[in-house]
Parts: sequence; structure tokens; C-alpha cells
Amino acid sequence: MELSGPERDQLLRRVAPDVRLGRGVRMYAFVNLYGCTIGDDTTIGTFVEIQKGAVIGARCKIQSHTFICEGVTIEDEVFVGHNVNFINDTYPRATTDGALQTEADWQLVPTLVRRGASLGTGSTILGGVTIGEGAIVGAGSVVTRDVPARAVVAGNPARLLRTLPDSAR
Ligand SMILES: CC(C)(COP(=O)(O)OP(=O)(O)OC[C@H]1O[C@@H](n2cnc3c(N)ncnc32)[C@H](O)[C@@H]1OP(=O)(O)O)[C@@H](O)C(=O)NCCC(=O)NCCS
Repeated sequence: MELSGPERDQLLRRVAPDVRLGRGVRMYAFVNLYGCTIGDDTTIGTFVEIQKGAVIGARCKIQSHTFICEGVTIEDEVFVGHNVNFINDTYPRATTDGALQTEADWQLVPTLVRRGASLGTGSTILGGVTIGEGAIVGAGSVVTRDVPARAVVAGNPARLLRTLPDSAR
């Protein structure tokens, strides 16, 4: 039996039963979602992983190869470029006293991306950061501090390039 493209994609992704999916969410092949919430009409590209506790708003575009970890909240209409990484553990260790760490051994640091912001391809967003409404993060940036609303930031560490006018989206 010949499968259509969307049917093949469906066989090649893993969406755990505890995922809360909104209406009209579009997902491509090799997506791995568990314990997260995805808002209406959001699209999720190939090879994206979204962990438990992450919340994604409505009408977001999550591009391929991106990793969204526990503790990340993304509001509506946010663009997340390809290969964007979030951080939720500031001082990671594999073990404590020689035994593999469990969830009890580290402290989760939350991150918030406000409505309408855009995160450029290959950017890394450190834990504890808030990215303001309508802000733009340049490709390849490492965001270490809060980004004000409508700010355009870039570089490692990301620095302010300019601020978009109120009318800009
Ligand atoms: C950050 C960005 C929005 C800035 O665009 P812009 O305002 O038109 O900026 P300019 O091209 O005029 O560059 C301004 C300065 O910032 C630097 N710059 C621009 N983007 C940069 C980036 N991603 N990282 C580091 N520096 C950057 C430029 O080199 C320039 O520096 P200079 O003044 O010393 O010459 C844009 O370059 C960018 O990275 N957009 C993200 C694109 C993306 O990831 N799309 C995803 C889907 S394809």
C-alpha cells in the first residue's frame, strides 16, 4: 500500500499520550514530543524535540532541529529558527557522588519568550532569560541576559543592535 507524505510523517514521529495538542497543529517527521503543551495552528519541523513541562503558544513556527527543554514557555506567534537550543541547567553534571544524577540533583532554570519574538537560526538561549515581545535574536547568538521588547540583539554574548519601532512586527 502506497502511503501519502503526511501518513509517512505520522509513522515517523513520537507524540506521547500526555502531550496537550491544540487544534490544527502541523508536525513533520522525526518529531519527539512528551509532556508538553502546543497551542493551536503551531507548526513543528523535522527533528524537533520538546520536553515535558514546556509550553508553546498558538501560531508559532518551530523550525527543524530545535530543542525546547523543560522550563521553557513560549507565547503566541513566536518564530523559533532552525537548530535553536534552550538551556535549563546552569551548572550541569553527569553524576553526584559517582552516581548518575536524577531530577532531584539539579535545579531547573525557567525561560520565557514573549509574544511575537523571533529567535534566529542556531541561537542558544541560556536559562533564566526573558525575551521581550517582538524582539529579534540574530542567527548564532548566545543570549545571556533579558532582551527588552522589540530589541534586535546579536552576537556572543548577544548585544543590542537597535530597537524596532512600536509599529513593527
Ligand atoms: C540580527 C539581524 C536581524 C540584524 O539584521 P540588521 O538589523 O539588518 O543588521 P545589519 O545586517 O545591518 O548588521 C548590523 C551589525 O550587526 C552585525 N550582525 C548582524 N547579524 C549578526 C549576527 N547574527 N550575529 C552577529 N553579528 C551580527 C553585522 O555584522 C553588523 O555589524 P557592523 O555594524 O559591525 O558591521 C540579522 O542579521 C539576523 O541574524 N537575523 C536572523 C535571521 C535568521 O536566523 N533567520 C531564520 C530563518 S532563515
